[in-house]
Order: sequence, then C-alpha cells, then structure tokens
Amino acid sequence: MAIRTILTYPNPILRQKTGKVTTFDEELKKLADDMAETMYDAPGIGLAANQIGVPQQIIVVDITEPDGDKEFTVFVNPVISEGEGSVTDEEGCLSVVEYTTQVKRFRKIKVTAQDLDGNPLEFEAEDRFARIIQHEVDHLLGKLFIDRISSLKRKLYKKKLKKILKSQA
Ligand code: NI
Repeated sequence: MAIRTILTYPNPILRQKTGKVTTFDEELKKLADDMAETMYDAPGIGLAANQIGVPQQIIVVDITEPDGDKEFTVFVNPVISEGEGSVTDEEGCLSVVEYTTQVKRFRKIKVTAQDLDGNPLEFEAEDRFARIIQHEVDHLLGKLFIDRISSLKRKLYKKKLKKILKSQA
C-alpha cells in the first residue's frame, strides 16, 4: 500500500469525467488499497480515484461504526439511480482545502455499482452514507461540492483560497 498525493482545486484533472472500469484485476485492488490508505492518512471519509489522478470510476467510502475499527468499502462504476428527500448538512472535501459549508443532498438514494471482482451491486443508502456516496460520485463526474453552493459563497471561497495559496508561495 502507498499513500498517494491528493490533487486539490483548482487542478483541472478534478474537472475531467472519469471512465468506466472494465478490468477487474490485482492492479485495481492495489489501487483501491492505496485509495483507502490515502483517505485515512488525510484523514477523510471518502475518496474518488480522480482525486489521486486516476481517471477511473472508483470510490472508497469509510463505513467505520462509532468506536469501531477503521473499515471501508469500495464501489466501482457507481451510479445513483434514484434519490428522494433532501437534507442540508456540513460538507468538506480533501480536494477543497480549508473549507466546509452546508450542502443540500438527497437523504436517501439507490445505487448500482460493482465490487472489486466485477460483481454487480444494488443497494439503498441513507443519511451520512448517502451523502458520502453522492459527494464521491460527483467527483467521478468532474463535480465538486462548491459547485452546489451559491455563486457568492463560491466567490468568497475563491478569494480565501487565493490568499492561502499566496501565503504558501
Ligand atoms: Ni471530495
């Protein structure tokens, strides 16, 4: 396993749509392990492959129970087929530095995906789990959570980021 570098906004790679995974081999499992290790090192609760520069439809999601050992799951080629209800809650992203804000998402979703062996999966997700999946699937489509906030808020974040980057230069 290896910790990979997480790309951050405004890196244009984060804006590119990812491709479907068609080969389910050891390489894919290794990539998923690297993604999980990178996510926990950050630390974060979800990661999409394009955040480490791999333009493929793979996400890892933390499913650790409170007080439990770290546990994650991997979804390959995930698609949100249905969504219902809506809930607004605090969100952040490993690729959007020093920013969290309220984002509206479906409360409950239906998801189709594949596991690391290519077996089809179909399940429902709610609340926290549903939010993470929606956030990560957005990544695979080249979207970030700051696309889902008001243009004024986004402008303010861009301003703040400019200052941060300047102070690091
Ligand atoms: Ni993110």
